[in-house]
Amino acid sequence: MAEVSAHAREAAVAIEATDATLGAVVRGVRLAAMTDDEWNAIHAAFLDRGVLVFPGQFLTDAEQMDFGRRFGELMIESQPFSNERADGSLRGREDPVMQLFRGNESWHTDSSFQPVSAKASILSARKVPATGGETEWADMRAAYEALDDGTRERIASLCAHHSLYYSQQRIGAAGDVTAKGLAELHGTARPGSAAGEDDGGASMPGYRQEQVVPLRPLVKVHPETGRPALYIGRHAHDIPGLSEEESRLLLEELVEFGCQPPRVYGHHWQVGDVVIWDNRRVLHRARPWPPSEARAMHHTRVAGDPATETALNVH
Ligand code: OGA
Ligand code: MN
Repeated sequence: MAEVSAHAREAAVAIEATDATLGAVVRGVRLAAMTDDEWNAIHAAFLDRGVLVFPGQFLTDAEQMDFGRRFGELMIESQPFSNERADGSLRGREDPVMQLFRGNESWHTDSSFQPVSAKASILSARKVPATGGETEWADMRAAYEALDDGTRERIASLCAHHSLYYSQQRIGAAGDVTAKGLAELHGTARPGSAAGEDDGGASMPGYRQEQVVPLRPLVKVHPETGRPALYIGRHAHDIPGLSEEESRLLLEELVEFGCQPPRVYGHHWQVGDVVIWDNRRVLHRARPWPPSEARAMHHTRVAGDPATETALNVH
């Protein structure tokens, strides 16, 4: 009897791969009340597909955090990412927090600029615009596999620095604007510190002045699958051994090549949807939406394993 019902539950989880090299849509499971069999199927699909979309979950913050904790320790518990203030007014284009959201519209991987980068991120949709505001993911494992031998050899031993101050400066946000946006969003001016933690005046806006700018290999071997992937995105800059210009060109070329079909998958959000992605393998970005419309997402972030996600120059 027990076996039959376990099977029935297992069969009810429908994991449908997309036509792209990454992503799957998962139905027939309530994340807030998962069985072990369901968790095992979801975890396997996460490693296989890199991005899982769960339509219509309507998780509470506590349930979303519990789901995140299945994957590991949380570095961000449940952070509203919204252009709407508590009083219902919308943030304008020049608002420091909006500058951070605008940054999210370029391909990136979460927390690569922190000493220990992220394992996974979860987003859930609380308010969605009528048009735009999709999220897209790109498969850097498939991108690495599609590179020509020459490029693969060229990048094999290269590393890049990763800085939020760098990437924000590239979109025109000065260091003090980035610090202000972070302070308002996370309650701290230093991207390396935990949300709400006082940074004791240690924040130093401007990536050239950050005490340690994390250095990370361009090719990341996935700690759980053993598969290599490009580890790049907007925070990456200044490859030791290359000039600033050569670094920029190479990193841009890799993103441009990598983020092409069939390696890209996009999700048009409905309220209640939940998505989790593997930051060790995929890049992601938000698509723009009309500034007159509210878009409210809740973000939970799972920390990487210090053994495999710590930057090379952090001890
Ligand atoms: C994020 C992010 C993109 C989006 O939550 O880390 O980049 O579509 N979000 O909001
Ligand atoms: Mn992000």
